[in-house]
Formats: sequence, structure tokens, C-alpha cells
Amino acid sequence: MKVLHRIDELRAALAGGPRPAFVPTMGNLHEGHLALVRQARAHGVPVVASIFVNRLQFAPHEDFDRYPRTLPRDAELLEGAGCDIVFAPDEAEMYPVLQGFKVQPPAALADILEGHFRPGFFTGVCTVVMKLFQIVQPGIALFGKKDYQQCIVVRNMVEQFNMPIQVIGGETVRADGGLALSSRNGYLSDAERTEAVALSAELQRVAQAVRGGRRDFADIEAAALQALRQRGWQPDYVAVRRRADLAQPQAAGEPLVVVAAARLGSTRLIDNLEI
Ligand code: PAF
Repeated sequence: MKVLHRIDELRAALAGGPRPAFVPTMGNLHEGHLALVRQARAHGVPVVASIFVNRLQFAPHEDFDRYPRTLPRDAELLEGAGCDIVFAPDEAEMYPVLQGFKVQPPAALADILEGHFRPGFFTGVCTVVMKLFQIVQPGIALFGKKDYQQCIVVRNMVEQFNMPIQVIGGETVRADGGLALSSRNGYLSDAERTEAVALSAELQRVAQAVRGGRRDFADIEAAALQALRQRGWQPDYVAVRRRADLAQPQAAGEPLVVVAAARLGSTRLIDNLEI
């Protein structure tokens, strides 16, 4: 496996070969990322993973500076999972000049839920993903479904820009008790780690209620928010939405997902469950 830091090196390494399968990451990898790499492997083309902590998608008060940078460990894990090339550029390589051109996703998709609580987040994500796609030129790109809205936003960007890339959402990998794996779980204290399973448990309760035929989504969501608050969480949202576009459910029979974000201590966790 090669670890490359420069765009010209990456292009030279991929020249003349098939379009790779690509797993973009910000590093500090866990089993969820490695599952995406293994899934990418199954497509029989070279597998590229990127590691780049993208300043553009962090608000000034967020954890950009303390986001763990763990390249040597990440590279070992990626090699074990069958990755062929790690692309790990520094900021000067990705943003040699002020990034004046940005990719701004439509408000209906990107200013709701995560985008409401993290204004500008999806512009930062789309801009870096567009740049990474231009650099890597993948035929397939894999994103974890834990970041459900990110998958939908990126898929829409690829479609609207006619990019010849198949976007695949990989299933969320969970620890015992149901906690969705996340690079940010490392911020949790032992006591918070024990409590953190309550988020996925609450999503299960919401999913069960909806599967049982309830359509009073506002009441179900309010009960889930209240239950989390009572346990000491500060929830941003718990919302039952359409899987296709994360809009409010309209007709019966639409595939739904429940998405949630909540803060436990100083750590903000997100999770979702397809219903
Ligand atoms: O999901 C992530 O880790 C990031 O948002 C991504 C897609 C690598 C863009 O920086």
C-alpha cells in the first residue's frame, strides 16, 4: 500500500488504470471505515482512501483543532483492510489558495437537520468532496450511512453535476449495546460511553412505534427528545423523515428513517435507523 501526500503523485499512481473505488475519510479510523474499504475491495478495482481533516466543514467553535490526527495507525488499519493507496494531503496541498469557489447544496437538503444546527457544514463537505472527486476520479465512492444526510447530499451533488460516480452507502457499524461507531466516540468518558447507547435505544423505540403503525410523528419525536433530556442529554433533533430526501413524511408506505443528533457532555453524537 502506498501513502501519498501530493496530488501529482496520486495521479501518477492511478494513471492508465481503471477508475478506483474511493473511501473519503477524516482519519482516526474505526471499523465502520474499514468495512467501507472491504466493501470497496469487492469491486475489483484499486481502492483509494483519503485522510484529510477538512477545515471548511468545521465551524469556529467546533473540534477542528482537537480532531485526532492518527495517520500511522490509520495507514496500518487501511493496509490490513486491503486499501491500495492512502491519499493524505496537507492543507496547503488541498487549499493552496483561499477556496473562493464553493459547492453550495440546495437549502431544502442541506439547511435542515444537521445543516440547521451546523450552518455551512454541507457546503464544506460538498466542496472538499468535489475536490477529492476531481483529484481521485473514482468510479465508485463509499460513504457511511451513519452520516445519512451527508450520503444523500453527496448523491444529489453527483447526480446534478453528472459525475460518473456510483455513490454507495455502507451500513452503520455498531459496538455492543448499539452505539454507532464514530471517530468522536473517543471524546466520551467511560461513564458517557456507557450512557451513549441510550441514543440508539431511543431510535429503536421510535422505529418500533412507526413500524407499529403510528403516524403522529411530532408526538413520537417529542417523547424521544424528552426521554433523552431526562437522561441528561441535550438533543438537537430526533426526526422521522423520508429516506429519499429527508423531507417530512407525506403518504403512507414511503420508506422512512429516523435521524437524531444529541450532545452528551461536550460530545455531539449523531445516529439514524431506517424504519
Ligand atoms: O464523513 C467524513 O468523514 C467527511 O465529512 C468527509 C466525507 C471525508 C469529507 O470531509
